[in-house]
Amino acid sequence: MHRSVRTAAILKKNMSETQESGITRNSKTVAYSRVIMSHMMLPQDANPAGIVHGGVVMKHIDDAAGVVALRHTRASVVTASIDRLDFHNPAFIGNLLILRASLNLVGTTSMEVGVRVETEDLKTGQIRHTASAYLTFVALDEAFRPCPVPPLTLETEDDRRRNRQARSRREVRLAEKTQETLCRSHPDACVY
Ligand SMILES: CC(C)(COP(=O)(O)OP(=O)(O)OC[C@H]1O[C@@H](n2cnc3c(N)ncnc32)[C@H](O)[C@@H]1OP(=O)(O)O)[C@@H](O)C(=O)NCCC(=O)NCCS
Repeated sequence: MHRSVRTAAILKKNMSETQESGITRNSKTVAYSRVIMSHMMLPQDANPAGIVHGGVVMKHIDDAAGVVALRHTRASVVTASIDRLDFHNPAFIGNLLILRASLNLVGTTSMEVGVRVETEDLKTGQIRHTASAYLTFVALDEAFRPCPVPPLTLETEDDRRRNRQARSRREVRLAEKTQETLCRSHPDACVY
C-alpha cells in the first residue's frame, strides 16, 4: 500500500465519532496525534563552549507540542503555559535532539502535552535524557476565542497513567492561577 494511503488509514482507525452536547465531534486517540521529531544540533544552536542553548531546546519543545495540539484539534492553537523545565544533561553540537510528544489530557478548550527530550551522540549511539516538559495549549476559533477541543480516547495503561498525573498537575495549575488572580486584586491579603 502507498505510504500516504497507509498513513491516512491509520489516522482514520484512530478516530471515532462521538456525540457531545448535540455537537458531533471526533474523539481521537493519543496515538493519533503523537509525534517524534529529530533535529541535528549545529553551531548556530550552541554557545562558544559547544553546548546547545536552553532556548533552542525550548523552541523545539514548543514546536513538537504544537504539532500534537494541531493534529488533535485541526484548529489554531496557542501555548498558554509551560510548566517548570529542568535540563538534566547538556546537548552538544553534532548531537541529535529527539523529541517525543503526546497528549496527556484534554479539558474543555485546553490540552496538556508532555514532551520528553533525549540527546543521541551520533558517534557513540549513547542516548541521554535532556529534558521533560508539560505544556498547555488552548484551541482558538476564527475570532481567536477559546473553543472546545475533541475528546481524548485513552487506550493503553501508559495513556491512563499520564492522564491521571496530568489531572493532578491541572488542579495545581488552576489553584495557582486562582491565587495569582487573588494576589493581583488584593495584594495586601496575599501571602507568599
Ligand atoms: C491562552 C489564552 C487563549 C487563554 O485565554 P483566556 O481568556 O484566559 O481563556 P479562559 O480563561 O476562558 O481559559 C481557557 C482555557 O485555557 C486554560 N488556561 C488559561 N490560561 C492558562 C494558563 N496560564 N495555563 C494553563 N491553562 C490555562 C483554562 O484553564 C481553560 O481551560 P479549559 O477550557 O480546558 O477549562 C489567552 O490567555 C492567550 O491568548 N494568551 C496568549 C497566548 C500566546 O500568544 N501564546 C504564545 C506565546 S507568546
